[in-house]
Amino acid sequence: MTMSDVVPVADVFDALAAAAPEIRAGFAGRAGETDDHNATGDRQLHADIHADELLRAHLGGLDAVGQYASEEAEDVSDVGTGPLSVSVDPLDGSSNLGANNPTGTIVGVYDAPLPAAGSDLVAAAYVLYGPLTTMVAATDDGATRYAITPDGRRDGEPADLPDEPTVYGFGGRVPDWTADFTDYARRVEDELKLRYSGAMVADVNQVLTYGGVFAYPGLRDRPAGKLRTQFEAIPMAYIVEAAGGASTNGTRSVLDAEPETLHERTPVFLGNDALIERAERALD
Ligand code: AHG
Ligand code: MN
Ligand code: MN
Ligand code: MN
Repeated sequence: MTMSDVVPVADVFDALAAAAPEIRAGFAGRAGETDDHNATGDRQLHADIHADELLRAHLGGLDAVGQYASEEAEDVSDVGTGPLSVSVDPLDGSSNLGANNPTGTIVGVYDAPLPAAGSDLVAAAYVLYGPLTTMVAATDDGATRYAITPDGRRDGEPADLPDEPTVYGFGGRVPDWTADFTDYARRVEDELKLRYSGAMVADVNQVLTYGGVFAYPGLRDRPAGKLRTQFEAIPMAYIVEAAGGASTNGTRSVLDAEPETLHERTPVFLGNDALIERAERALD
C-alpha cells in the first residue's frame, strides 16, 4: 500500500480540477497590477489574488486539509484539522497574462506541517491554462494528464516522460548565468530545440510532452536563482520524477530539499536523467 492510498489526495485533485475553470474565467480584466508585493517581492496582479482566493476556498475547505500556504501570502494558514498541508502557486507565470500567453497553477500536498521537506510530499499537481485547460497529477504511483472540462475532470492518460529528449528552456538573463552553467547550456543548445514561455508550468509541460530539460539556475548575484522551493521547485520536481524523469538543484534531487522558510528559493533542473546528470557534473 502506498501513501496515496491512505490519505485522500484524490479530494485535492478533484478540488483543483473544480477551481481551474473558475480561475481561468477570472483572467479577463485581471491582468493589471495591484499596489502590493508578495513575500518574494513580486508585484501582485489582480489575477494572482483572485486565483489565491479561489484555491484557498476550494482546497482549504476540504476536510482532509489542515494547512494552506501560498506564494501570495506571507504565512501559513491553519484552515482545519485534516492531516494534509497544501502549498500553492496560485498563478504561475502570471505576467504572461498581459500578452495572452500561458499560465499555470502548482499544488504540493504534504503529510506534514509547512514549511515541509520534499520527502513529506504525498502528491502534487499542476494545471496549465493553455489553448485547453489540462492537469497533470502525480502520486507515488506515477503521473496522469487530464483534460479539464468546464464541469470537472475527464478520464486521464499516463504522463510518461519520453526517453528521447527534444526541447530545453532555461530561465534568467544569459549575462547573469555562471560560467559553469553557460558551458552546460551551450552544449544543450547544440543538441535540443529552445522552447521557453516564461511560465514554469508551460515550460515543464513541454519537457514532459516532448522530453528534454527545464532549468532556472542559480545566477551570479543570486545563487539560489528565482524559483521558490516550496511553491514551485518541490512540487514540479515530484511530478517530473513520478513521470520517469529526474531533478537536481545542481548537487542532489530537488526532493531532498528541506526548506527552513516558506518563501526561500532554489536552483531547479528538471527533465531526462542523462541531462540532469550532465548538469550535476557541469556544476560540480
Ligand atoms: P510567478 O508568476 O508564479 O511569480 O512565477 C514566475 C516564474 C516562473 O513561472 C518562470 O519559470 C520564471 O518566473 C520566469 O522568469 P524569467 O522571466 O526571469 O525567465
Ligand atoms: Mn509571482
Ligand atoms: Mn510561479
Ligand atoms: Mn505565482
